[in-house]
Amino acid sequence: MTTTPSFPGALPAGTTRVIRGRILHFLRDPQFHDDGYEYWEDGALLVRGGRIVAAGAYDDLSSRIPADAELIDYRGKLIVPGFIDTHIHYPQTDIIASPSPGLLHWLDTYTFPEERRFAEPAYARAVAEFFTDELLRNGTTSALVWSTVHATSADALFAASEARNLRMITGKVMMDRNCPEFLRDTAETGARDSADLMSKWHNKGRLAYAITPRFAPTSTEAQLAACGELARAYPDAFIQTHVAENRDEVKWVAELFPDARSYLDVYDRYGLLRPGAFYGHAIYLDPDDRRRLADSGAAVAHCPTSNLFLGSGFYDFHQSDAHRLNVTLATDVGGGTSFSMFRTMNAAHKVARMGGYHLTALRMFYLATRAAADALGWADRIGSFEAGCEADFVVLDPDATPLISRRSSRSETLEEQLFAFAMLGDDRVIEDVYVMGQAVGERTVLAAAA
Ligand code: GUN
Ligand code: ZN
Repeated sequence: MTTTPSFPGALPAGTTRVIRGRILHFLRDPQFHDDGYEYWEDGALLVRGGRIVAAGAYDDLSSRIPADAELIDYRGKLIVPGFIDTHIHYPQTDIIASPSPGLLHWLDTYTFPEERRFAEPAYARAVAEFFTDELLRNGTTSALVWSTVHATSADALFAASEARNLRMITGKVMMDRNCPEFLRDTAETGARDSADLMSKWHNKGRLAYAITPRFAPTSTEAQLAACGELARAYPDAFIQTHVAENRDEVKWVAELFPDARSYLDVYDRYGLLRPGAFYGHAIYLDPDDRRRLADSGAAVAHCPTSNLFLGSGFYDFHQSDAHRLNVTLATDVGGGTSFSMFRTMNAAHKVARMGGYHLTALRMFYLATRAAADALGWADRIGSFEAGCEADFVVLDPDATPLISRRSSRSETLEEQLFAFAMLGDDRVIEDVYVMGQAVGERTVLAAAA
């Protein structure tokens, strides 16, 4: 048996695929539950029809393997559910790593001029293709993605995701003030375009829609009210926005909304706090905000590389845990500096350390998989290897580079091995990526062989 799969042929319907390797997934938050995860050193996934049939120790499952099953041997590699990035801007792909003194300058100087280009459908399509491929190269199989204000930019991302059979969410940005004229919608057109996109894409196959007001400063009260109406009309739509990212921004919101108790309260007043709502950054919150966030069931998208790069601030894990916030991990490209969830973990760990908090690698892998699936309400679909879940997973190579290999060989515990991936890893450790049980690139290989 080789450790490199050769994808020997198209699987007849009903054929079981057996993936053998070191298998890890999460059931609950390992920070609070000793039995939060399952790990099998010599494990296997049984996959049929693109879904997980079973996960467990290879010896325990071997009696359930049909004679005609196809075995793919990854012994020695670590197999985890595909990563879920809960906040990433696809139109900012090409302005990643743009130097700036901070958020508001960065938006004006780089972000808005680049987002203007997405009015052109062919441009949007080309970036959406690159973006989805780059996500996959980094082991991210699902994401809550930002488009631009142009409805066609969301169309392009949905189409690229559909072509790759990805479980993805996006929405057109809504902003009707405090931004350049060329990126402005109105309360009416923003709501109408969002509703049109929802009827076209929401719950189509693996796709779903997110109502996407950019942030409080770029929406009038009328537009926020329209967002709230949309949210009521579509109770299973996702919601995404930014909150309390930067001190100047927080001050600006206080001036724009003098009646609101806090920045978060602006959104609360318009009915935008609920399960399936994702708040990017959430750094400058007070205890009432955190209580309200926790009670509402909304989630935080923690974006550590972006918060460091733009000098925005440090997410407070002590307070987050004290209130049991639904925290998830996100890259926030292009404010964030990497598509890699490993680089994101690296930054998350260091940010937590600056606050005197030890963020374990187990917790970080949980945040990047099951925590996001739970916050999305999709734990029955993605984020773990529970039976019935869609078989999106990644194969990690502990010997991907000479240094990672040396460190891996010294790892005495699972935590140490995961920590080595989190601190040293990036796209180089992603050996293979599977979407609905099929390796990315497999269809191309099979088509070429036919
Ligand atoms: N706040 C409003 N828009 C943005 C954006 O595009 N990126 C980040 N990081 N923060 C924002
Ligand atoms: Zn963002």
